[in-house]
Amino acid sequence: AQWGDEGKGKIVDLFTEQADLIVRFQGGNNAGHTLVVDHGNGPVKTVLHLIPSGILYPDKTCVIGPGVVVDLRVLFREIEGLVTAGHDVGPDRLRICKDAHVIMPYHCALDIARERRRGVDKIGTTGRGIGPAYEDKVARTGVRVRDLLDPERLRAVLAQALPEKNALLAWLEAESFELAALLDEFTRLGEAIAPYVSDSRQLLADAMAADKRILFEGAQGTLLDVGHGTYPFVTSSYTTTGGVCVGTGVPPSAVTAAVGIAKAYITRVGGGPFPTELDDATGEALRAAGQEFGATTGRPRRCGWFDAVAMRTSQRINGFTGLMITKLDVLTGISPLKICTAYETPHGRVEVADLDAASLAEVTPVYESMPGWEDDLTGVTTYDGLPQNARRFVERLSEVSGVPLAGVSVGPGRTQTIVLQAPFAPRRDA
Ligand code: GDP
Ligand code: IMO
Ligand code: MG
Repeated sequence: AQWGDEGKGKIVDLFTEQADLIVRFQGGNNAGHTLVVDHGNGPVKTVLHLIPSGILYPDKTCVIGPGVVVDLRVLFREIEGLVTAGHDVGPDRLRICKDAHVIMPYHCALDIARERRRGVDKIGTTGRGIGPAYEDKVARTGVRVRDLLDPERLRAVLAQALPEKNALLAWLEAESFELAALLDEFTRLGEAIAPYVSDSRQLLADAMAADKRILFEGAQGTLLDVGHGTYPFVTSSYTTTGGVCVGTGVPPSAVTAAVGIAKAYITRVGGGPFPTELDDATGEALRAAGQEFGATTGRPRRCGWFDAVAMRTSQRINGFTGLMITKLDVLTGISPLKICTAYETPHGRVEVADLDAASLAEVTPVYESMPGWEDDLTGVTTYDGLPQNARRFVERLSEVSGVPLAGVSVGPGRTQTIVLQAPFAPRRDA
């Protein structure tokens, strides 16, 4: 619901128990989703970049949909890491759509070279080639997973695309790429990925026909959506609820619930306007207590107060049926707590915003304050067990956002969650 890193991985892992398939629909390995699960020997942390956050449950199917951009080198490293940690990541568990686009090495080189050229105006991308890969998709010059399964086709696509890439890279004073070397490596990657590849649209249609439950896992955040976010400081995919349909081919009528995930404050990694940013000791305290360092790049995250204006804008786009508030425990000991409820703009006070970066840079947040609490929340397991001020605070967040409260997260662990409203109805046979 915000600028990413809200705790999507944690919540998707939690809701996976009630689902049959878990599907990524957009983005790529710019994402870093952290799961902390105790299987009996203490908490174990897993960071996922591409594989859906349902993978820790042995009986669920994880799907990488056609809207995702896939770096196969990263995918194989991720599979290897999970297998080493004792998880089953075989082709019966992980399916990759043949129409997903492939992030090629020249996409990463272009991403990095462009950012270098932008200098102080850089977007602050993750450098993972996400933007250039989506550009090629839209320009109809991309490499799809299916192209890797047919060396002649791959040669034709690369022969078409590569001269232009190399010319651009030369202009950006970056390394160029050889057709033969790319063909060799990606034909081999194609052979390795083949067992995992299918048409995920058919897979999802069959699952729906069989009354299976599908959990779609968003990456990045609403404010980073390429069409609705703080452009140009955005990622290159549709991160919002509509992206589920665009990125998987599932019809809108099939989507029955949308859970918005938001921190009890807000963070941002990379450049761009941030009205409620705290450049002071409170911002430092949030970063330290919330361990706000990027799961993908390790960069310190910028921290600020919960922004209800951004959240209402997010709600307008996403139509959330419930709101999960995460990292409430991080606010322990901070008082008073603030919530931004409106922006003062050159055109008057607003409660829903124009997210364009230049417009957002001109606003001044209007805050309301609430008393904090001193109690450690990380062991609280029921809603009524929360201190009264903590309950009042999350209820106010839900109220100013215009979304019913679906639950509260009080620590990184799977069990440190108080669920008030589950996204799936009880099973018919339950
Ligand atoms: P994602 O990208 O939305 O999946 O989120 P990240 O994994 O990038 O960042 C969220 C971080 O907060 C991770 O380190 C999580 O383990 C951690 N986390 C998630 N929920 C909570 C919570 O309720 N409390 C605390 N203290 N940490 C949490
Ligand atoms: P998860 O799924 C936070 C940000 C980058 C940069 C902008 C564009 O873990 O929440 P890109 O590499 O996508 O072209 O970078 O988007 N960004 C994220 N910020 N969480 C993420 O993913 C992000 N993925 C990209 O920092 O500002
Ligand atoms: Mg993250």
